[in-house]
Amino acid sequence: MEKVETVGQIMITEEEIRARAVEIGRRISEDFSGESLLFVGILKGAVMWMSDVIKNVDNKEMTIDFMVVSSYGASTKSSGVVKIVKDLDVDIEGKNVIIVEDIVDSGITLNYLKNYFAGRGAKTLKICTLLDKPEGRRVDLVPDYTGFIVEDKFIVGYGLDFDQKYRQLPYISFLK
Ligand code: IMP
Ligand code: MG
Repeated sequence: MEKVETVGQIMITEEEIRARAVEIGRRISEDFSGESLLFVGILKGAVMWMSDVIKNVDNKEMTIDFMVVSSYGASTKSSGVVKIVKDLDVDIEGKNVIIVEDIVDSGITLNYLKNYFAGRGAKTLKICTLLDKPEGRRVDLVPDYTGFIVEDKFIVGYGLDFDQKYRQLPYISFLK
Protein backbone atom coordinates (compact mmCIF):
# COMPACT_ATOMS: atom_id res chain seq x y z
CA MET A 1 0.00 0.00 0.00
CA GLU A 2 1.25 3.54 -0.79
CA LYS A 3 2.50 5.43 2.26
CA VAL A 4 0.78 8.80 2.73
CA GLU A 5 2.46 11.43 4.89
CA THR A 6 0.52 13.64 7.29
CA VAL A 7 1.27 17.15 8.49
CA GLY A 8 1.71 17.62 12.25
CA GLN A 9 0.76 20.55 14.50
CA ILE A 10 1.79 24.14 13.89
CA MET A 11 5.33 24.72 15.19
CA ILE A 12 5.73 28.40 14.22
CA THR A 13 2.89 30.72 13.25
CA GLU A 14 2.81 33.27 10.44
CA GLU A 15 2.70 36.08 13.03
CA GLU A 16 5.85 34.80 14.74
CA ILE A 17 7.66 34.53 11.39
CA ARG A 18 6.65 38.05 10.35
CA ALA A 19 7.75 39.51 13.69
CA ARG A 20 11.13 37.80 13.33
CA ALA A 21 11.46 39.13 9.76
CA VAL A 22 11.00 42.67 11.12
CA GLU A 23 13.82 42.15 13.64
CA ILE A 24 16.17 40.62 11.10
CA GLY A 25 15.33 43.20 8.42
CA ARG A 26 16.21 45.97 10.87
CA ARG A 27 19.48 44.29 11.84
CA ILE A 28 20.49 43.93 8.19
CA SER A 29 19.60 47.60 7.59
CA GLU A 30 21.95 48.60 10.41
CA ASP A 31 24.73 46.20 9.44
CA PHE A 32 24.76 47.51 5.85
CA SER A 33 23.81 51.12 6.37
CA GLY A 34 25.22 53.28 3.57
CA GLU A 35 26.30 50.19 1.56
CA SER A 36 24.81 48.47 -1.45
CA LEU A 37 23.21 45.06 -0.93
CA LEU A 38 22.25 42.14 -3.13
CA PHE A 39 19.76 39.60 -1.80
CA VAL A 40 19.95 36.22 -3.50
CA GLY A 41 16.94 34.02 -2.80
CA ILE A 42 17.31 30.28 -3.26
CA LEU A 43 14.22 29.09 -5.07
CA LYS A 44 11.76 27.80 -4.41
CA GLY A 45 11.89 27.40 -0.63
CA ALA A 46 13.02 30.93 0.24
CA VAL A 47 10.20 32.85 -1.49
CA MET A 48 7.97 33.61 1.49
CA TRP A 49 10.79 34.36 3.94
CA MET A 50 12.66 36.51 1.43
CA SER A 51 9.59 38.63 0.73
CA ASP A 52 9.03 39.12 4.46
CA VAL A 53 12.64 40.09 5.19
CA ILE A 54 13.25 42.48 2.29
CA LYS A 55 10.12 44.50 3.09
CA ASN A 56 11.85 45.39 6.35
CA VAL A 57 15.22 46.37 4.92
CA ASP A 58 15.78 50.09 4.69
CA ASN A 59 18.45 50.44 2.00
CA LYS A 60 18.12 52.52 -1.17
CA GLU A 61 20.90 50.62 -2.97
CA MET A 62 19.50 47.12 -2.61
CA THR A 63 18.68 44.73 -5.44
CA ILE A 64 17.47 41.14 -5.54
CA ASP A 65 18.16 38.05 -7.61
CA PHE A 66 17.32 34.35 -7.45
CA MET A 67 19.04 31.04 -7.99
CA VAL A 68 17.68 27.55 -8.33
CA VAL A 69 19.80 24.76 -6.89
CA SER A 70 18.86 21.16 -6.33
CA SER A 71 20.22 18.61 -3.92
CA TYR A 72 17.29 16.58 -2.69
CA GLY A 73 14.87 15.22 -5.28
CA ALA A 74 11.81 13.49 -3.86
CA SER A 75 13.55 12.34 -0.70
CA THR A 76 13.85 13.63 2.85
CA LYS A 77 17.64 13.06 2.97
CA SER A 78 20.32 15.16 1.26
CA SER A 79 22.02 13.48 -1.66
CA GLY A 80 25.13 15.54 -0.89
CA VAL A 81 25.25 16.62 -4.52
CA VAL A 82 24.46 20.25 -5.37
CA LYS A 83 23.47 21.23 -8.88
CA ILE A 84 22.92 24.80 -10.14
CA VAL A 85 19.72 24.72 -12.16
CA LYS A 86 19.42 28.51 -12.60
CA ASP A 87 22.40 30.77 -12.10
CA LEU A 88 22.47 34.44 -11.07
CA ASP A 89 21.47 37.07 -13.62
CA VAL A 90 23.85 39.67 -12.20
CA ASP A 91 27.56 40.02 -11.59
CA ILE A 92 28.38 39.82 -7.87
CA GLU A 93 31.95 41.08 -7.99
CA GLY A 94 32.54 43.65 -5.21
CA LYS A 95 28.98 43.30 -3.89
CA ASN A 96 27.65 42.70 -0.39
CA VAL A 97 25.65 39.51 -0.90
CA ILE A 98 23.06 38.01 1.43
CA ILE A 99 21.97 34.52 0.50
CA VAL A 100 18.41 33.82 1.64
CA GLU A 101 17.51 30.18 2.35
CA ASP A 102 14.55 28.34 3.80
CA ILE A 103 16.54 25.96 6.03
CA VAL A 104 20.10 24.95 6.78
CA ASP A 105 20.25 21.22 7.52
CA SER A 106 23.49 19.40 6.59
CA GLY A 107 24.91 22.76 5.44
CA ILE A 108 26.14 21.18 2.20
CA THR A 109 24.06 23.39 -0.09
CA LEU A 110 25.14 26.65 1.54
CA ASN A 111 28.73 25.58 1.91
CA TYR A 112 28.82 24.91 -1.81
CA LEU A 113 27.17 28.26 -2.57
CA LYS A 114 29.53 30.15 -0.25
CA ASN A 115 32.54 28.80 -2.11
CA TYR A 116 30.89 29.46 -5.45
CA PHE A 117 30.14 33.09 -4.50
CA ALA A 118 33.55 33.70 -2.97
CA GLY A 119 35.11 32.50 -6.22
CA ARG A 120 33.13 35.17 -8.06
CA GLY A 121 34.56 37.97 -5.95
CA ALA A 122 31.71 38.94 -3.62
CA LYS A 123 32.87 41.66 -1.20
CA THR A 124 30.98 40.22 1.76
CA LEU A 125 28.82 37.14 2.02
CA LYS A 126 26.14 36.53 4.64
CA ILE A 127 23.50 33.86 5.08
CA CYS A 128 19.95 34.66 6.15
CA THR A 129 17.89 31.54 6.82
CA LEU A 130 14.33 31.13 8.04
CA LEU A 131 15.22 27.91 9.88
CA ASP A 132 18.33 26.22 11.21
CA LYS A 133 18.44 22.51 12.05
CA PRO A 134 21.87 22.25 13.76
CA GLU A 135 21.53 18.53 14.56
CA GLY A 136 21.65 17.72 10.85
CA ARG A 137 24.96 19.51 10.23
CA ARG A 138 27.64 17.65 8.26
CA VAL A 139 29.88 20.63 7.46
CA ASP A 140 30.95 23.54 9.64
CA LEU A 141 28.51 26.34 8.84
CA VAL A 142 26.80 28.94 11.03
CA PRO A 143 24.18 31.22 9.42
CA ASP A 144 24.57 34.97 10.07
CA TYR A 145 20.85 35.72 10.42
CA THR A 146 18.58 32.92 11.67
CA GLY A 147 14.82 33.12 12.02
CA PHE A 148 14.30 30.06 14.24
CA ILE A 149 16.19 26.99 15.38
CA VAL A 150 14.20 23.79 14.87
CA GLU A 151 14.58 20.22 16.08
CA ASP A 152 15.56 17.37 13.79
CA LYS A 153 12.20 16.75 12.09
CA PHE A 154 11.24 17.00 8.44
CA ILE A 155 9.82 20.51 8.23
CA VAL A 156 7.17 21.71 5.76
CA GLY A 157 5.27 24.93 5.13
CA TYR A 158 6.08 28.59 4.56
CA GLY A 159 8.02 27.70 1.41
CA LEU A 160 9.43 24.38 2.58
CA ASP A 161 8.31 21.32 0.69
CA PHE A 162 8.12 17.59 0.71
CA ASP A 163 8.21 16.40 -2.91
CA GLN A 164 7.10 19.94 -3.98
CA LYS A 165 4.02 19.89 -1.73
CA TYR A 166 3.05 21.99 1.34
CA ARG A 167 5.00 25.13 0.31
CA GLN A 168 1.78 27.18 0.51
CA LEU A 169 1.06 26.55 4.20
CA PRO A 170 1.14 29.91 6.04
CA TYR A 171 2.95 28.34 9.04
CA ILE A 172 5.80 25.95 9.85
CA SER A 173 4.88 22.35 10.57
CA PHE A 174 6.46 18.91 10.18
CA LEU A 175 5.73 15.54 8.62
CA LYS A 176 4.63 12.64 10.80
P1 IMP B 1 21.31 21.03 3.32
O1 IMP B 1 22.17 21.10 2.09
O2 IMP B 1 21.26 19.63 3.88
O3 IMP B 1 21.65 22.05 4.36
O4 IMP B 1 19.83 21.25 2.88
C1 IMP B 1 19.45 22.35 2.24
C2 IMP B 1 18.16 22.18 1.49
O5 IMP B 1 17.51 20.94 1.78
C3 IMP B 1 17.20 23.26 1.89
O6 IMP B 1 17.32 24.35 1.04
C4 IMP B 1 15.87 22.58 1.74
O7 IMP B 1 15.39 22.77 0.43
C5 IMP B 1 16.14 21.11 1.95
N1 IMP B 1 15.76 20.69 3.31
C6 IMP B 1 16.58 20.40 4.35
N2 IMP B 1 15.89 20.06 5.45
C7 IMP B 1 14.57 20.16 5.10
C8 IMP B 1 13.35 19.97 5.82
O8 IMP B 1 13.28 19.63 7.02
N3 IMP B 1 12.21 20.20 5.10
C9 IMP B 1 12.20 20.58 3.80
N4 IMP B 1 13.32 20.78 3.10
C10 IMP B 1 14.50 20.57 3.74
MG1 MG C 1 13.72 21.99 -0.96
